[in-house]
Amino acid sequence: MSKQAAARPLPPARLRRKAGSQPSDSMELQIRRMREADLDSILAIETASFTSPWSRSAFENEMRAIYAHPLVVTQAVPPHILGYLCFWMVTDECHILNLAVHPSFRRAGIASSLIRRLLEVCEHKHIRGCFLEVRISNKLAISLYRKFGFVPCGIRKRYYPDTGEDAMVMKRRFPSP
Ligand SMILES: CC(C)(COP(=O)(O)OP(=O)(O)OC[C@H]1O[C@@H](n2cnc3c(N)ncnc32)[C@H](O)[C@@H]1OP(=O)(O)O)[C@@H](O)C(=O)NCCC(=O)NCCS
Repeated sequence: MSKQAAARPLPPARLRRKAGSQPSDSMELQIRRMREADLDSILAIETASFTSPWSRSAFENEMRAIYAHPLVVTQAVPPHILGYLCFWMVTDECHILNLAVHPSFRRAGIASSLIRRLLEVCEHKHIRGCFLEVRISNKLAISLYRKFGFVPCGIRKRYYPDTGEDAMVMKRRFPSP
């Protein structure tokens, strides 16, 4: 992922979960494929989450490319985008490109639910390995990925052009069928 986490505030979310609650306690979540109509909400989360955010056309490309699998997690009632995950699957390999959660809904298991869905799809499609790059300073994301069995497997020096920061490459292997 060629981006950097930022802390820019978003306008207040229309719905907030109760302090200390998990999403499942207070709202029903759905995971589905990204649609054109989601893009305004996605771009608001994207610009609040990264100092080098993806453009609208970058997300549009994800919706068009045959090997791309852009997912969103939404609150069912009323419809509200809480986060998204973009990944590619080519032959037996998967690559995570983008993951972010609305700042008002973080630390409630939403990214975990997206990663769980990703792992289910990988197993269903007989993927052998899933890879990603993450800024070495992004300890929260590294902790999230470790929780789901991703392990560091290399460093790409000065991978991020905006700051020159290194990327940690992480991988998750799947057992042979
Ligand atoms: C990283 C990010 C996607 C996590 O989303 P989230 O929905 O808050 O994550 P979850 O609630 O599912 O947390 C899962 C795990 O991530 C780690 N984690 C997430 N937020 C954390 C925090 N504030 N402090 C410590 N660990 C944290 C923990 O290991 C956590 O597991 P635990 O709750 O059992 O301790 C979110 O913080 C975000 O959008 N950040 C900005 C964009 C970004 O950095 N994307 C990743 C690019 S590689």
